[in-house]
Amino acid sequence: MTGARRRIVITGGTSGIGLELVRRLSGRHDILVAGRREDADALPVLPDGVRYVHAPLTDPEAATQAIAEAILKAGWVKLDNLVLNAGTGFAVDGGIETAGQIRDTLAVNLTASALLARALFPWLDKAGGTLTFVGSVAYKGQGLFPAYAASKAGLHGLARALRAEWAGRVAVQVVHPGPTRTEMHQKAGHDPGRLRTIFIPAYSMAAMLEGVIAARRSPVTLSFGRYWTGGAAWSGRL
Ligand SMILES: NC(=O)c1ccc[n+]([C@@H]2O[C@H](COP(=O)([O-])OP(=O)(O)OC[C@H]3O[C@@H](n4cnc5c(N)ncnc54)[C@H](OP(=O)(O)O)[C@@H]3O)[C@@H](O)[C@H]2O)c1
Repeated sequence: MTGARRRIVITGGTSGIGLELVRRLSGRHDILVAGRREDADALPVLPDGVRYVHAPLTDPEAATQAIAEAILKAGWVKLDNLVLNAGTGFAVDGGIETAGQIRDTLAVNLTASALLARALFPWLDKAGGTLTFVGSVAYKGQGLFPAYAASKAGLHGLARALRAEWAGRVAVQVVHPGPTRTEMHQKAGHDPGRLRTIFIPAYSMAAMLEGVIAARRSPVTLSFGRYWTGGAAWSGRL
């Protein structure tokens, strides 16, 4: 299938790693981005020809319905790739997030991912497609972001379970990026300081992510080792 035009849904494609992935893929493939922004704020940042659906994942059921309806409206009867990249988190010192922060983190990162996987399975199944969960190296547990770490650990388990359940029909993978230079830390209320300068550029992370999606392997960690050995340059293409 490499080289063939694909139909791809990407969540969280309006900034950071997701936007860089959209930029890489949009000329060669048909892309539907789902995001939390209103159309007027999202469309100007997206490349021409990319479809957009407003689907805030803090309400996972409503967002899943909106995304399914957008796929139907586009006339897509099958889906080659679903990239569940949207993510959120809140930095807290010396404890755990508030109830609202925990609820939003789990809703966006985990519940919405499970509901979207379930709802879009029939489209992926028709294409023999690939479902990609974007996790984090934080899934092993990390101070400052306890609920975020828990949500990413949940994605890891969900991906392993679905990979077994859907083997031979839909390839399921979880990909764990390492520290990447995006606005995510600022949005989470965390300043990584000078460390930020060594974080992996978002366009390089997107290049490595595209290669892993094409290879359909799981689980995969995309961190400094791969980046420093030229991983963004030798990654494969979808
Ligand atoms: N940056 C890192 O160091 C790092 C490391 C490991 C894993 N990751 C993971 O990589 C993925 C992409 O993150 P990023 O670094 O590219 O951060 P980012 O630039 O903040 O991108 C996150 C995306 O998710 C969207 N989003 C956030 N809350 C949402 C909601 N309630 N409903 C719908 N969409 C929502 C954001 O929308 P807006 O554009 O409107 O903000 C944005 O498009 C995330 O899953 C993150 O956990 C990042």
